Amino acid sequence: MTPPKSNGLSSRDTPAFVPGRHCAQLSESIQRAADALLNHAYVVCLTGAGMSVESGIRPFRGPGGVWTEHGEPPLDDYRRFVSDPVAYWKRLLNPVGHLRELHASLDKAHPHEGYLALVELERVGAIKYIITQNIDGLHRKAGSRKVAEIHGNCEMLRCVSCGTRFERHEVDTSVLPPTCVVCGGIVKDDVVVFGEPIPEDVGLVCAEQTEFADCMLLVGTSAYVYPAAGLPQQVKAQGGALIEVGPHPTEITQMCDIVVRGTAATALPQLAQEVASRMAARMSESAVNRKTYDS
Ligand code: APR
Repeated sequence: MTPPKSNGLSSRDTPAFVPGRHCAQLSESIQRAADALLNHAYVVCLTGAGMSVESGIRPFRGPGGVWTEHGEPPLDDYRRFVSDPVAYWKRLLNPVGHLRELHASLDKAHPHEGYLALVELERVGAIKYIITQNIDGLHRKAGSRKVAEIHGNCEMLRCVSCGTRFERHEVDTSVLPPTCVVCGGIVKDDVVVFGEPIPEDVGLVCAEQTEFADCMLLVGTSAYVYPAAGLPQQVKAQGGALIEVGPHPTEITQMCDIVVRGTAATALPQLAQEVASRMAARMSESAVNRKTYDS
């Protein structure tokens, strides 16, 4: 996981809102987004820290961001793990400062209405897969089935040699660093830290789903950290459409076809509602057509 090679544009340079191109009214943008979800064959949703803000977990960047307050973290976390896994584990088991705050908010967090809206959009087939940069596991807790956690899951551990994942209670951490019962390798938390390669299995799923996608719904991501930030660019490069949901402009706003300036917990339920009513209208229309045709 690495920060961006600058595209020369920062969200400050991105015009907040271009009337006419980006629908002024939230409801109008929701309607356009609903159309786009229904008129594309394979929509993949990419979520970021903004998706969890209304579940009590702070974002990293933008207003109220952890890194906004404390500055971006050192980018060599993984190198430090490799050079001294015992020290890494001691920090993990006795978190201080914003790591402690993050752990506390992760323990208390529950999925909000926006998560349930994504479950519904998956159920009706309007979205095919969720790629999340979040480590909080809230999409699965909400009931989403097709989920790829590109930055790992805070409740899991992973062997850095064979890639086997374990639930926390399955690994003995009384001796540090813990070792893998499958291959004897060193076990780390499953969370992907700066400088760490994305685990091969989840990386393949994300690459495959992005290749399939003809539309990407971006929710609560600043599109700042790679390789995740490269996925919507790939969808765009392969001729697909981009829909952005979030209260503030981001690194990728300019590339987006539709921008919904609302929060995850407010905009996503409206979007799911709009999709549901359009699908119902389409169903009754085709029922009428069929009746006319049969008569
Ligand atoms: N609803 C939707 N979006 C929101 C909300 C909200 N309630 N509140 C904030 N946002 C938006 C912000 O405007 C911002 O664009 O969510 C985005 C959060 O951006 P980041 O904090 O940068 O999160 P993310 O894109 O997921 O960061 C990528 O960076 O530090 C690493 O590992 C970390 O996975 C993370 C990665």
